Amino acid sequence: MEIAENARKEVAILKEEIQALQAEVQEVIKNSERLEKLMIKSRIKLATISGDYTRYTEEDMRAAYEEADRLRVELAVSRERERQTVIRRNELERRLKNAEVTLEKAEKLVAQVSTVLDYLAGDLSKLDEHIESAEQKRTLALRIIKAQEEERRRIAREMHDGPAQSMSNVILKAEICEKLFEIDLEKAREELSALKEMVRACLKDVRRIIYDLRPMSIDDLGLSPTLQKYIDNFVNETGIRVDLMFIETDNKIKDSNIVLTVFRLVQECLNNVKKHACATQVTIQLEGTTKGLTVRIKDDGKGFDTARLSREPAHSDSGYGVIGMRERVELLGGSFSIESKTGKGTTVRATLPYSLQGV
Ligand SMILES: Nc1ncnc2c1ncn2[C@@H]1O[C@H](COP(=O)(O)OP(=O)(O)OP(=O)(O)O)[C@@H](O)[C@H]1O
Ligand SMILES: [Mg+2]
Repeated sequence: MEIAENARKEVAILKEEIQALQAEVQEVIKNSERLEKLMIKSRIKLATISGDYTRYTEEDMRAAYEEADRLRVELAVSRERERQTVIRRNELERRLKNAEVTLEKAEKLVAQVSTVLDYLAGDLSKLDEHIESAEQKRTLALRIIKAQEEERRRIAREMHDGPAQSMSNVILKAEICEKLFEIDLEKAREELSALKEMVRACLKDVRRIIYDLRPMSIDDLGLSPTLQKYIDNFVNETGIRVDLMFIETDNKIKDSNIVLTVFRLVQECLNNVKKHACATQVTIQLEGTTKGLTVRIKDDGKGFDTARLSREPAHSDSGYGVIGMRERVELLGGSFSIESKTGKGTTVRATLPYSLQGV
């Protein structure tokens, strides 16, 4: 910038000097022309005088000679001045040309440096974005870890309340049976049959927990039969009607991440319907679009104020369902929304891109 500024100043000074010099050149040329005319006149005069001895004195002749000589010298000086000023003007014009080239180069450089500075500044703001997104990723990772811990806590609770309780009862009943065998065989048989029922119930519990963790059939049979089986169980257990529809999904849902995510969405939504909605009917629709696979789960239950979700943070043992669904979908580069109004039912929508990100 300093080079550019100096070059700019020099160009301005040179232009001014050249202008002044140009005026001087004009003036000198004019002076030379004037002197030349005077010279011609004085020569004519001299010729006239020197040829006419009768009319002019010797003094006249000498004066005419001196005048002609003076003009000759003056003209020579003026010509020399003219030559010098033209040389100087040409020199200045050459310097001006150079200064203009320097200025042009310096201005180009300034522009380039500004571009680089802009770029660097832009990059720094991008760095900010990077830091922000790294921060977001960190928060997301922490929430995922938290959600995992919650899931483990839930499984532990279910194992504790279900199979573990049943098993300690089974031991108790087995001990009673042992004693009854010696006293009352009939009673012992009854206890044994109750024990069998207890073990059966316990097995069912364990199977449900395993199924909830990861239905084995999802890998072998695929999404549709596994969902249907899960829904059948749900209908039997709750009496709530569920319609499952597939629209143009055919071969598009082979990706195991999509399959599992859809299953988890349905699972959590049906759990929420059972726990909170008091609904009579649920519609589950899976549709293959150009954007991806869209899942819509709609119930006709009592609905709720969705603003509560952001207002009330999840507490220790519940309230992770919706957060978990959203995070799962967004982690795969999809979009998630939940719409609900008190008394108007609830609709959960998710779109999962076919080409999954972050997998
Ligand atoms: N289908 C629904 N109908 C009515 N209310 C709902 C429905 N789904 C969610 N809610 C409301 O939204 C809240 C948050 O749901 P979310 O699934 O996140 O938590 P939760 O079901 O209470 O606990 P968790 O899923 O962690 O066991 C619920 O407590 C409930 O009040
Ligand atoms: Mg829930």
